[in-house]
Amino acid sequence: MTAPLFPDRILATLTSPNGGGPLVPQDDALICRDSGTRFPFLHRVPSLYLSTPGEGNVITDLMQSFYTENPFPSYEGLEEFGELVSKGHGNSFSRGLLHAIGYNKMILECGCGTGQLSNYLQLNNNHVLGIDLSLASLALALEHKQRNQLTRSAFVQMNIFNLAIQDESFDVILSHGVLHHTHNARQAFAHIVKKLKPGGIVLVGLYNTYARIPTWLRSKVIRYLGPRIDYVVRHRIHDAEKARIWIQDQYFNPHETWHSIDDVLLWFRENGIDYLNCSPAILDTDAEMSADLFAATHPGSVYQRVVTQLSWIFSLGREGGLFDVVGRKRSG
Ligand SMILES: C[S@@+](CC[C@H](N)C(=O)[O-])C[C@H]1O[C@@H](n2cnc3c(N)ncnc32)[C@H](O)[C@@H]1O
Repeated sequence: MTAPLFPDRILATLTSPNGGGPLVPQDDALICRDSGTRFPFLHRVPSLYLSTPGEGNVITDLMQSFYTENPFPSYEGLEEFGELVSKGHGNSFSRGLLHAIGYNKMILECGCGTGQLSNYLQLNNNHVLGIDLSLASLALALEHKQRNQLTRSAFVQMNIFNLAIQDESFDVILSHGVLHHTHNARQAFAHIVKKLKPGGIVLVGLYNTYARIPTWLRSKVIRYLGPRIDYVVRHRIHDAEKARIWIQDQYFNPHETWHSIDDVLLWFRENGIDYLNCSPAILDTDAEMSADLFAATHPGSVYQRVVTQLSWIFSLGREGGLFDVVGRKRSG
């Protein structure tokens, strides 16, 4: 027996690409109920992929082939669900995220990669749709789902710039380490939050303008000094293939942009999102005291935000400089 590819609640959110009707699964395809158009699975992965219009296509294609060769972050050592849960519970970010999300929520992860977070977050009766460009990554996500009979996660190949998903259908939208690999992170953000219900939560994780500098410096010398100059390879990764993929992702990525907290606050204002919290916290604000990732906290002053981000050069800078900002979509 295998777990169904699409839980009913997830299937109900899908539409044909380019604004078509609802979809039904049939053998190895999704079929548009209105037009009968067939969207075949590719390498056994459900696909509703449409390319990015205009010049952005070049970067989308580049990223697609990069993450086909380097499925990130991959599962080595986490093939059994128990191992994944144990790692998730042991990590303060994923544990805090699961706790803040709570129960019975509809979650969309944009750029889910190999799907560890999506498969983990389907705990607590949450339903999770993970979408990504990379068929190789999604195949690993599906393999984990099927091997462990996970009934509430689903994976579909999609492009963030052409999401085949009904507007306002998810309670929580996550995009961790993804938008900075698109041709326009600001536009990509506007696309994903259309899928968020009013009152829903968005969490976006990006390379920080300041904290990414040490990685950039290391990228200049890693060819000569080797992967051991990387903190994560030295302290966290024990598998050679996983280490190779991490090094490729961090130091040989064909496209990345860097962003400040204020960039994200601007995107929030443009899209009717109220700021809730930042991880790590902005120094000297109430966020430092809050254990709840979704708690409403003060974003601090411009000065506090600059000082915070400068301090991240010496903390986050060791591990790639990724920070997360959380907001809530205004109702009405
Ligand atoms: C660094 S990986 C992050 C994976 C995962 N979120 C994590 O934190 O481990 C970036 C992912 O973004 C995906 N991606 C990049 N551009 C995309 C786009 N336009 N649409 C969908 N996924 C995209 C890539 O395929 C890749 O799997």
